[in-house]
Amino acid sequence: MALTTDSAISSDPLRSTTARRVLSGMRPTGKLHLGNYVGALKNWVALQKQYECYFFIADYHALTTDYADPRNVAQNTLEVALDWLGAGLDPEICTLFVQSHVPQHAELHLLLSMITPLSWLERVPTYKEQQENLSGKDLSTYGFLGYPLLQSADILMYQADFVPVGQDQVAHVELTREVARRFNQFCPPPGYVPPTHAHLKETLVAEGAQREIPPGIQPILPEPQVLLTPSPKLPGTDGRKMSKSYNNTILLTDPEPVIRQKLKPMVTDPARVRRTDPGDPDKCPVGDLHKVFSSPETLTKVYEGCRGAGIGCIECKGWAADSIVRELAPIQERRARYNEKSAQEVLRNGAVRARKRASKTMAEVNEAMHLLPEAVR
Ligand code: TRP
Ligand code: SF4
Repeated sequence: MALTTDSAISSDPLRSTTARRVLSGMRPTGKLHLGNYVGALKNWVALQKQYECYFFIADYHALTTDYADPRNVAQNTLEVALDWLGAGLDPEICTLFVQSHVPQHAELHLLLSMITPLSWLERVPTYKEQQENLSGKDLSTYGFLGYPLLQSADILMYQADFVPVGQDQVAHVELTREVARRFNQFCPPPGYVPPTHAHLKETLVAEGAQREIPPGIQPILPEPQVLLTPSPKLPGTDGRKMSKSYNNTILLTDPEPVIRQKLKPMVTDPARVRRTDPGDPDKCPVGDLHKVFSSPETLTKVYEGCRGAGIGCIECKGWAADSIVRELAPIQERRARYNEKSAQEVLRNGAVRARKRASKTMAEVNEAMHLLPEAVR
């Protein structure tokens, strides 16, 4: 399997007129932080206005790594939903749901597992990496090996055109494309006329063994494209990448005093030992925060003040905190309009819509796989 990314990354999807559906998911990690926001959520909020969007909380995926202690899954799922609503995902214009509320995900995962060579899963780069990184957990399970295929089912279920994800997920979308292609070869849609031998020979040569689908008839599982989320460098309070596992996050729900408190001890440009030493915001994690959250005017003050030793780091961190507080204020205000009950209602309504869309795909898939229909027609 070629895990190249180029073919999966679309040059300018917004210009495509046929592109319609977007799907993405997030694991229920609990309360979200600024890294989750600028690396994914903020982008989703923009996408919902242009596309038919499906966003789901991947609770089955959480179980692939947390099966030994799953006690937090439900609460974490709710926290993520509340943060999504706070960030501005609007349940009136997009579909927000929980993966396990749409059992068709499990159904499609099973059917796709029939056609997926084991070697494809073993070769997914995150498979060995994660097993090494999470060495405290026994990840030699069937479910963990199969989770990229579960992700393929998540995507293909909605016959999605685009999947907004970060660089770390590109290989999974690439696998999804390969699986879709294989499914479409084995299970062409009804009415599909197989090409003649001569025709096949020609297209085999021309398209690297891909069977051509005659015009007019669409494959059941279209190949999705990655919509690569540009993710700005976002350091946590210890200067490393902001990540829950480093315990260095600023949460979307952190109140102003907590944000200020967390920024105070933050690492700065090591060249600025004394207040009189000039520094460089490009070598400072606080500078990186300014680049993401501060206005051009503040940014100018930071560059000039830091390089000319005209400001102190404490003052500079205060400005960074101001910028973050300003970004989070509307998010926290919106989040406060929901509670666990109303968030659950949003998810319940989302699941109804998602199940409806999913059962349409499953009807096509079951038919193409020649399973006996339940109803006599
Ligand atoms: N695997 C993704 C992650 O860890 C979450 C995910 C699950 C996902 N299913 C998906 C993302 C489908 C995009 C599309 O972040
Ligand atoms: Fe970093 Fe600001 Fe201090 Fe410069 S003044 S080193 S950008 S905290």
